[in-house]
Amino acid sequence: MLQTALRFSHTLLKEVTQEGNIVVDATMGNGNDTAFLAELVGSTGYVYAFDVQEQALINTEKKLTELGLRDQVGLFKQGHETIDVTVPKETSLTAAIFNLGYLPKSDKEIITKPDTTKKALDALLPRLSPKGRIVIVVYYGHIGGEAELTLVQEFCQQLPQEDYSVLTYQFINQKNNPPILFCIEKK
Ligand SMILES: C[S@@+](CC[C@H](N)C(=O)[O-])C[C@H]1O[C@@H](n2cnc3c(N)ncnc32)[C@H](O)[C@@H]1O
Repeated sequence: MLQTALRFSHTLLKEVTQEGNIVVDATMGNGNDTAFLAELVGSTGYVYAFDVQEQALINTEKKLTELGLRDQVGLFKQGHETIDVTVPKETSLTAAIFNLGYLPKSDKEIITKPDTTKKALDALLPRLSPKGRIVIVVYYGHIGGEAELTLVQEFCQQLPQEDYSVLTYQFINQKNNPPILFCIEKK
């Protein structure tokens, strides 16, 4: 069966991430991706996880502690637009994940935004290691979602093919705006 965008995002991350790697979860939410990445990098790796909502940090901390994965994760109550000043310039990142949109069953007013998403992407690219991947899953059915989808699409399309491979993954016959996945891989 074809993988959902969410499942495919994990497949793409798993293919490149190993024990000891340094990675980023740009939109922590309830910590599902944070926990997945923390498991992949193990106790010798490190996950930078960002969210602007206090509740996201509380939920994620609880999840990580229960799973015994807390030690290898830095939880930052900061927008991902601060990656440039939070992740040292010389850091070599193997992977990063974004789930853009709002946190289900939470305040639908707190959404990711095009300008801050772009800032985060601009900061991640120079830190990405060769063969490293940035996976962006865009939920765009809400107000403001289309603008963010446009930003991500345009950002991805202008990347030079000599330096990056970029793919998009999308179910094109589904109702209710299923998420669209983008993956940027550095050559
Ligand atoms: C679709 S949810 C992420 C779901 C998450 N991957 C999970 O496993 O539950 C999007 C999240 O982005 C967060 N967010 C909004 N603006 C942000 C920003 N500038 N930087 C980081 N996170 C932000 C929201 O608070 C929300 O928790």
